[in-house]
Amino acid sequence: MTTPIGIHDLAFATGSRVLDLSVIAERLGTEIEKYTIGIGQERMSIPAADEDIVTMGAAAAKQIIDRHGAEGIRTVLFATETGIDQSKAAGVYVHQLLELPATCRVVELKQACYSATAALQFATALVARDPRQRVLVIASDVARYELGSSGEPTQGAGAVAMLVAADPDLVVIEPGSGVFTSDIMDFWRPNGRVTALVDGKYSIRAYLQAVENAWNDYSAQGGFPISEFNRFCYHQPFTKMASKAHRHLIKTAGGDLDPAVLDAQIAPTLKYNRVIGNTYTASIYLALLSLLDSDEELDETKIGFLSYGSGSVAEFFAGTVQPGYRKHLRSEENRSVLAARVPIDASEYLTWHERRDPTELGDFALPNETPGPFRLAGFTDLKRDYAVTQ
Ligand code: CAA
Repeated sequence: MTTPIGIHDLAFATGSRVLDLSVIAERLGTEIEKYTIGIGQERMSIPAADEDIVTMGAAAAKQIIDRHGAEGIRTVLFATETGIDQSKAAGVYVHQLLELPATCRVVELKQACYSATAALQFATALVARDPRQRVLVIASDVARYELGSSGEPTQGAGAVAMLVAADPDLVVIEPGSGVFTSDIMDFWRPNGRVTALVDGKYSIRAYLQAVENAWNDYSAQGGFPISEFNRFCYHQPFTKMASKAHRHLIKTAGGDLDPAVLDAQIAPTLKYNRVIGNTYTASIYLALLSLLDSDEELDETKIGFLSYGSGSVAEFFAGTVQPGYRKHLRSEENRSVLAARVPIDASEYLTWHERRDPTELGDFALPNETPGPFRLAGFTDLKRDYAVTQ
């Protein structure tokens, strides 16, 4: 019998500021229902001036290290599509902030919103080779689109950290998956731009096509039939996209298309993303956290995961929730983190939107704003200076 491998612990962090989408609706003269009903979003997390993908990723991972220690961690995989350096992996800063052992490899992975899934799959393979090892996977992103663009209401910021290990407490990642790659331009962010470019309507069609192809490959590889899955986690650029994708998957796979059944299969996965916004690589694993933190009893539940990254790569795979998973969660703390975010107004939002990293050599200090455990203190000759706050 092969050793079960999967997600032993799962934690998240997000921007400490929050914007109600009514602020954007008012500025653009859009009906708020277009956001709350049409795309299924209410609020978005915004990073404070001294927060970025490193501080959020480290804040998520710290919860895991505080609980489990660093023993056995010889690999850190940092997935992001909003990298802060063309050369140095963001995970190396996290490694330092968490005081992880030097006997560790650290690398960054990129393929739009998909790369955390690649990291998770690579991690399970490393653990399969040596079940004494545990792999720290971090996914962290800040989603920013041009003001007034169709993507503006789908911004957000957040990170998840996962400890991948043998005999996991939370979710076993089942062997086998369906994969799909296609060279398309539905969403892209050329070097030097902090805002992404997107062909919005095309990106929805491309996502749905990728769902179909990833599922067909999954079936061809001999995966579980659709009837064995009770819940589904999707990449959620906005929560309505999960509904569209789910309907398309079930239609493709020949499952039950009763709207009440479809809704129940994904509703608990939408709660966190609806109030955090798009977190790109982290989004599908925030959907998992939202499901695990819900009131549902999920012991032995089979979950279907559909990961999509524009450009594009997709993967369908299965996970099984472990008996007793609930006692390993942080549900109350997670809800408190979301409730504690500081609301910002229209002018603070525009200030955030204009924010750019410095491009000139010299010293730049950042205001002390974050309530989190780590902060980006500033820049010295374009080197990022991080600090521990607690
Ligand atoms: N009340 C209720 N519903 C309303 C409404 C109102 N007053 N006004 C509009 N709506 C509905 C529309 O009918 C539509 O619903 P359907 O899609 O079910 O038909 C929905 O609200 C959105 O309206 P529009 O299509 O007119 O919206 P839009 O064109 O301005 O923007 C979008 C939609 C293109 C998806 C835009 O949000 C966008 O560009 N987002 C960024 C790209 C994106 O997230 N793509 C998703 C796939 S790619 C991916 O997943 C990777 C990634 O992370 C980016």
